[in-house]
Amino acid sequence: MTFRMVDFIVKKRDGGTHTREELETFIREYVADIIPDYQASAWCMAVYFQGMTPEETAHLTYAMAHSGETLDLHDVAPIIVDKHSSGGVGDKTTLAVAPIVAATGLPVGKMSGRGLAHTGGTLDKLESFRGFRTELSFEEFKRQLREVGLVIAGATHNLAPADKKLYALRDVTGTVPSIPLIASSIMSKKIATGSDAIVLDVKVGKGAFMKTLEDARVLAQLMVDIGSHLGRRMAAVLSDMNQPLGRTVGNALEVKEAIATLHGRGPEDFTELVHTVAGEMIRLGGKAATREEARALVDQVIADGSAFRKFRQFIVAQGGDPRQVDNPDLLPKARLVIPIESERSGFVQDIDAYEVGLVTMILGGGREKKGDPIDHAVGVVLHKKVGDRVSAGEPLCEIHANDETRLQEALDRLRGAIRVGEEPVEPWPIVYEIVED
Ligand code: URA
Repeated sequence: MTFRMVDFIVKKRDGGTHTREELETFIREYVADIIPDYQASAWCMAVYFQGMTPEETAHLTYAMAHSGETLDLHDVAPIIVDKHSSGGVGDKTTLAVAPIVAATGLPVGKMSGRGLAHTGGTLDKLESFRGFRTELSFEEFKRQLREVGLVIAGATHNLAPADKKLYALRDVTGTVPSIPLIASSIMSKKIATGSDAIVLDVKVGKGAFMKTLEDARVLAQLMVDIGSHLGRRMAAVLSDMNQPLGRTVGNALEVKEAIATLHGRGPEDFTELVHTVAGEMIRLGGKAATREEARALVDQVIADGSAFRKFRQFIVAQGGDPRQVDNPDLLPKARLVIPIESERSGFVQDIDAYEVGLVTMILGGGREKKGDPIDHAVGVVLHKKVGDRVSAGEPLCEIHANDETRLQEALDRLRGAIRVGEEPVEPWPIVYEIVED
C-alpha cells in the first residue's frame, strides 16, 4: 500500500496504532526531505495527545537509530558501557562516573552533547580546560578508547539524523514533553552508538522534563524495555532534579566539584548519585556480580587514586592542560563573587533547580540559542541545600559573574529561587529507585 502522510497523521489523531512499516516509511521520507516539517509537526502533536504503544515506540526507535550511520566499536572494546542523563541542572555526573568506570577496566567511549535549554552539556564543561578538544576524528576516538580506555567527544558520525531533525522540530512546536517521543529520541542515539549496556539517569522534578515520579517511572520503564528488546543490558536510575545536583552550577565550577568527588571529597548527594550510576555501569558491564560488589569497586578506585589518574590521563589525551587538573584553582575564575545572605533564620525549604539553571544561563554560562558563546567561569555555588539550617545573615549561595549587564536580574531570580522557612524539613532523597528489565 502506498504511504500517504496525511493518512498517517489522521490515524494517530484518531487514536490509531501505526505499523512498523508505516513508522519506517515516515522516518525514511522525513529524513530524505520528502515529508515537510508542517506534516511532521502535526504528527508529533497527534502523538503528544494520543501517545504511542510500547511496540510503536520500539519500532520508531529502531527506525530512527538506523536513519544514518551506526557505530561498532567491538574491535576496540569487547563490551561498550554507556550512560545517558535526561538532562539536569548542575549535572556533572559523566565527569566523575566515566573515569571511575574506566578505572575498573571497562572502556568508556562516550559521544556527548552541548547544553539543551536551561541545562549544561558535558562538552561545554570539559572545554573549561585550556586546549581540550571535543572534535575528534573517528580514528582518534577509537585510538584513545583503545589506549586510554576513556574518551568523551562530540558525535563523529551522522548518527540518528532523524532524531536531530525531529528534536529541532519538537523544540519549536511544543512537542518535547511526550514520553514516547523522548524515549525514542534518547534510545535511538544510544542504539546508534552501539552500546551493549546502558544506564539511564532519568531526572525527576522542577528542573527536569519529567515533573513527577509517576511520569519518570513510565519513561524509564519504556526505555529499559526498548533497550532490552534490542538486546541491550539496561537499568534506569530515577534521581532528583527538584534542586540542583551537588553544590555547583556552571561549567568550570562543576568541573572542580567533579574533581573533588574523584578525590573522595564531593558533596553528599552528588557522591551518592555517582556511586549509584557508576555501580550500575560496572554491574551491567560484568565487572561485579552484585550492587554491593560494584559499590565496593567504586570506593576502591576513588580511594587508591586510580579514578583521578584516569581522568587526568583522559584530559591530557584530548589536549587539556594537566596543571588545571592537578590544581583546579587554575580553571577559569569569575571576576565577581557575590554572596546572597539569608534574610531570616530557619531551614531551607526549596531551591528551584529550573530557576538556578536559568540564572546560570543569564550570567552567560549557557546558551539561549544554538551557537552562542559561553563563559566557562560563571555560575552559582550553593552553600545550603534543602533541609539545611540557616541563620539570618548567613550566605545561602554565591553568584560567580563576569559581566554586570544582567547581574541584578540574576541576583533577583536567585533570591527568589531559594525559600527559607521556620519548619524543619527532611533533606530530599537523591536516588528514588532503579528500574530494571
Ligand atoms: N533528551 C533527548 O535526547 N531527547 C529528548 O527528547 C529529551 C531529552
